[in-house]
Amino acid sequence: MRLILTAAAVVTMATSVLHASAAVKPLTPELMLTLARPSTASLSPNGQLAVFSASRYSIDTNKSIRNLHLVNLASNNSLSDLTPQIPDTNHDNALWLDNDHVAFLSKGQLFVKSVFSNAEPYPLTHFPIDISSVKFNKAANLIAFSAAVYADGSLAGAKERDEHLKDYKKDTALAFDTLMVRHWDEFIQEKKNNIFVASIKKNGDKFVVDGEAINLLLNTGLESPVIPFGDQGDFDISPDGKELVFVSKINTPDNAWQTTTHIYTVPTVGGAAPKSINPESVGAASHPVYSATGKSIAYLQMLKPQYEADRNRIVVHTNGHSRIVAKDWNRSPSSILFDSKDETIFVTAEDKGHVKIFQIDLETETVEAIVSEHAQSGLNLIDDNTILYSTASLTTPNDLFTVDVKSKDTQRRTHVHADTLASVHLSKPEDINFKGDEGRDIHGFLLKPIGFDPSKKYPLAFIVHGGPQSAFNDNWSTRWNPNIFASAGFVTVFLNPTGSTGYGQELTDAINNNWGGSPYIDLMKGLDHVLETHSYIDQARIAALGASYGGYMMNWINGHTDRFNCLVNHDGIFDTKNGFYATEELYFPEHEYGGVPWDPKARENYERWNPANFVQNWKTPTLVIHSDKDYRLPVTEGLSTFTVLQRKGIPSRLVYFPDENHWVLKAANSLRWHAEVLNWIQKWTAHPKSSASTTSSDDESIEVLTSQVKLN
Ligand SMILES: *[C@@H]1O[C@H](CO)[C@@H](O)[C@H](O)[C@H]1NC(C)=O
Ligand SMILES: *[C@@H]1O[C@H](CO)[C@@H](O)[C@H](O)[C@H]1NC(C)=O
Ligand SMILES: *[C@@H]1O[C@H](CO)[C@@H](O)[C@H](O)[C@H]1NC(C)=O
Repeated sequence: MRLILTAAAVVTMATSVLHASAAVKPLTPELMLTLARPSTASLSPNGQLAVFSASRYSIDTNKSIRNLHLVNLASNNSLSDLTPQIPDTNHDNALWLDNDHVAFLSKGQLFVKSVFSNAEPYPLTHFPIDISSVKFNKAANLIAFSAAVYADGSLAGAKERDEHLKDYKKDTALAFDTLMVRHWDEFIQEKKNNIFVASIKKNGDKFVVDGEAINLLLNTGLESPVIPFGDQGDFDISPDGKELVFVSKINTPDNAWQTTTHIYTVPTVGGAAPKSINPESVGAASHPVYSATGKSIAYLQMLKPQYEADRNRIVVHTNGHSRIVAKDWNRSPSSILFDSKDETIFVTAEDKGHVKIFQIDLETETVEAIVSEHAQSGLNLIDDNTILYSTASLTTPNDLFTVDVKSKDTQRRTHVHADTLASVHLSKPEDINFKGDEGRDIHGFLLKPIGFDPSKKYPLAFIVHGGPQSAFNDNWSTRWNPNIFASAGFVTVFLNPTGSTGYGQELTDAINNNWGGSPYIDLMKGLDHVLETHSYIDQARIAALGASYGGYMMNWINGHTDRFNCLVNHDGIFDTKNGFYATEELYFPEHEYGGVPWDPKARENYERWNPANFVQNWKTPTLVIHSDKDYRLPVTEGLSTFTVLQRKGIPSRLVYFPDENHWVLKAANSLRWHAEVLNWIQKWTAHPKSSASTTSSDDESIEVLTSQVKLN
């Protein structure tokens, strides 16, 4: 397969509907992928300045630049580049050493930049290997960071052994005596993430490292941050700098089929074994943080073993004693921030399609939403009355805001996308509510297409989310961004059926051993409801799309209905049993189907919900996309799906990415992905579906090019 970028085609027409509204530009994949992607912010000690990083991709160079941006919160929210946007810049993980100096990671080492002078950044660390996930504690002048090291636990030892292996290891074999063999998109390494601390001091007017780095996880067999997604949120330094708290999987060969993680504390002077503060827990724990006074540690705790979508309980651990706070609150928080007096915590949690900020009084345990629209993250305490945070939505990537926690008044602090998104069409979401299977209340969103005219008829893009325990929220994403489909001329519907998160744990849990049951019924009822209530949708021009569990649902749909013109199946499950044997996280199918597939009772469940058992019914034209580094659902799932489609003569196309994981992340690959997906659904919804014509071959004349990327 070749990929050709036509340099001349700078402005691209998303669809033929575009000329209806000449002043408004569509949100093309090209535009979306080149928008700035701001991180959450880090706040200066005096609360006056904030720094965030943002990366920008350039199609011409096929490269991203990530630099640091400074926001002056105290003076007009002026926004400036703290480090320049020049090629090969990748600056991240900004932390404030004092009110004037920001440290940040660049190429695996820390550098320091003064905010008030034009002096160039200078290197702070010169460690033998790359470090990541850094935190700083002012009271003890201590940095804590992670690095991947061998059993000897030293940074220098890691460099030495890496070099030795490079020179002397002639074969490429990897050998394993236990699971996991691989996780997400990487084979398990001999090296493990350990957390180190090092002192820093001022030498003249420069910060320098003072003495050796100390490995706090030495000889423990523990690993933190937890792979594959762990970061500096996996540990925290106590306010006095004397102790560190971290999360790790426990030391056991069962980790491929257990989710157990424990929270450990360890003195930062080193030489002491970490102690677990939740040693009896069998579920996953996460996000440990110290309170501002240092008297308490709070963390999130799931109670059920093997279940990574159990409700997160908030545990506050004080003087050796743990209690669950707001234990009947039926939401699952994802982050915790203490006020300065240990009286209140602020948490973020999904709630009915939004990710809100809630305030919880630690004495009365009352829970109150203080920011309720869109998706919030990256909370910082400016003072007990004011929180700095980031907001994204279906119509914009992250910007910074503050909220007054008493009045709930919010104030916008940045407008990062003001220029790039000016005059770009971004549909605002319409809420969809209906009764699903067993009378459950189901919610979702609908976007109107670009150039909307209620007297016309439009095709529908019906998108099913993955997880399955996750949700479509009022949030921005560069993968499956619903506004891309609205800008390509589709009414776009994305529902949160049974299994979704943010609507109470019962709805999430109800998908257990019910994969093709309630969620499928919800989706079909939701589609009927949307068609009945939106006369501008053409009932005979509907595409369904989904990834991961959404891809499973595409295969399930193909075996159970032929109401769709076409399907797009990205990284979907073909065979539930084989999915168990080939995936890395065994706890996931074991929990969902009630055991291992050689257990006769569980085996019935695997068979019952197996899309492979219904291939005899398949009729619908399908685009199959799968990537080689998808170790969650290996590429054979996509190949199997394509084999059935081709062997049955059903119009189909396979798009394979050799260098992507469960997600398509590289921008050039994402452009190709978008071109393939939009082209497929435009082609198959160009004409009304007549059930007789679905097996006829393509009509090349209806092909619509949606982007600069040509499909060869
Ligand atoms: C803040 O911005 C306003 C409007 O742009 C301007 O009139 C004012 O002088 C600015 N104030 C400061 C302190 O920069
Ligand atoms: C919004 O979506 C992005 C992209 O999927 C994700 O990384 C982020 O965590 C989400 N934000 C919230 C607050 O859930
Ligand atoms: C484009 O960038 C990606 C990394 O994002 C790289 O893997 C790929 O090889 C690049 N393509 C070209 C033609 O340089």
